[in-house]
Amino acid sequence: MVLANKLAAWQKLQQHYDTVGQHLVMKDLFQQDGQRFDKYSRQFKGTDASILLDFSKNRINDETLGLLLELVKEAKVEDFRAKMFNGEHINFTEDRAVLHVALRNLSNKPILDDGQDVMPEVREVLAHMKEFSDAVRSGAWKGYTGKAITDVINIGIGGSDLGPVMVTEALKHYARPDLRAHFVSNIDGTDLAETLKQVHPETTLFIIASKTFTTQETITNATSAKDWFLSQAKEVQHVAKHFVALSTNTEAVTAFGIDAKNMFKFWDWVGGRYSLWSAIGLSIAINIGFENFEALLRGGYEMDQHFLNTPLEENLPVILGVLGIWYNNFFGAQTHALLPYDQYMHRFPAYFQQGDMESNGKYVTRSGQRVEASTGPIIWGEPGTNAQHSFYQLIHQGTKIIPADFLAPVETHNPIAGGKQHDILLSNFFAQTEALMVGKTEAQVRGEASVAENIVPHKIFQGNRPTNSIMFQKLTPSTLGSLIAMYEHKIFVQGVIWDINSFDQWGVELGKQLAKVIQPELAQPGSVSSHDASTNGLINFYKQHKKQ
Ligand code: F6P
Repeated sequence: MVLANKLAAWQKLQQHYDTVGQHLVMKDLFQQDGQRFDKYSRQFKGTDASILLDFSKNRINDETLGLLLELVKEAKVEDFRAKMFNGEHINFTEDRAVLHVALRNLSNKPILDDGQDVMPEVREVLAHMKEFSDAVRSGAWKGYTGKAITDVINIGIGGSDLGPVMVTEALKHYARPDLRAHFVSNIDGTDLAETLKQVHPETTLFIIASKTFTTQETITNATSAKDWFLSQAKEVQHVAKHFVALSTNTEAVTAFGIDAKNMFKFWDWVGGRYSLWSAIGLSIAINIGFENFEALLRGGYEMDQHFLNTPLEENLPVILGVLGIWYNNFFGAQTHALLPYDQYMHRFPAYFQQGDMESNGKYVTRSGQRVEASTGPIIWGEPGTNAQHSFYQLIHQGTKIIPADFLAPVETHNPIAGGKQHDILLSNFFAQTEALMVGKTEAQVRGEASVAENIVPHKIFQGNRPTNSIMFQKLTPSTLGSLIAMYEHKIFVQGVIWDINSFDQWGVELGKQLAKVIQPELAQPGSVSSHDASTNGLINFYKQHKKQ
């Protein structure tokens, strides 16, 4: 495969950037073309999800968009898309298919992995999840003293935590207040200790979520949780009522002491950061009910169909993907901000930090060469309007270009003050993208009430800062499902163009290996000298100062 930056369309884009692209001024483009909003906005309509993507506030013209879509074709994104949906082992470094789309495949179409239809097992696990979540929610599932469950603690990390946390927060409106969801991920004992303070062993269900069931943080926290539980419940047989596992590793689950019938299975073709649609979503199903979980899947499925069947120029994930490439690779943007104007979505940026950065944070191409173009951006963000009062200053007047996605619902679940608060929220959403685009000229600053001469430059806004506006009707389960899948496919499109494997994560291994070497050194007496001077110094400082 040719390196991305050697593709003909890339070279044309570079030339276009040098001659035209970098000089495009959005304010002028809007003045020249009264149809720009209509031209550069697209709508996705699912059964009950609808999403508007307005990408007119970008530094693009028709030629830019045309060339970006040419790049999609030349990089064979459509072929790779077919390969993914057909179960080819596109995660070749782990020899695995990438089939999170099968988890939300609501059609009758089989999906094959190694010639085997995965759908019967997917449906079986979904039925198990339904049965179990219904039992917990109705109170039919009893703890060891006969009481119903009031608290569910998901113990997992990375993809086995971030998805369930993000979705349960985003869909809190649909949750039952008397069935509390907790999440423990960090190996820092504080995470578990503070959570256990809020619950009682008789009424707590622990969900141990780990694809591999070998992750140090999760297994250590799960073992401590089991010890805490048994210190009260005493009998090992009671574990069955209070511990279930979500994993691909039956052997390790049973060795931990969880009954295989309390295990919810998934498969190696589900990547951790794409796993909330699988059994990893059990805490979500318990929290919001299985019907709502199914609606989330439906939203994901409908976005899959959109991604598969919509022409490139109408395709939301494709458009978002190429706009990201435009700024990342031609303007040299280092980051991409996700700014939801919806408090329920406050963990959405954190979720896609893993989703995007673990997927596309790679410098080696599929054929093992070093890339020559910048790959995955740094993803970050916080909900508006809070973010406006913290880091927007830099987006407006800093020296860096920060492309950003603004996301907002048309309708709120909480129309406080007769909807006035939502109007205020949305007026900020509209104002920010407008301000970023139009800026404020020197003449405007001078035209305002008298400004001292030396203050004038400080009040000028260059503008021309790009944003996408993504509006959806209401943050329902299916809408959230569609939004998540939209970003998953955006990441996919970019990974294919950069010619990297978006589905492995070898980069997280080295630190894990070294921690396993250091851990026993911390328990041994005496100082260490086997590392570099800094690491030795830090370890020895810790050993000298910790209370034995
Ligand atoms: O450390 C990275 C990682 O492998 C993620 O990709 C994954 O989501 C997380 O660890 C947790 O892994 P597991 O579900 O196997 O415990």
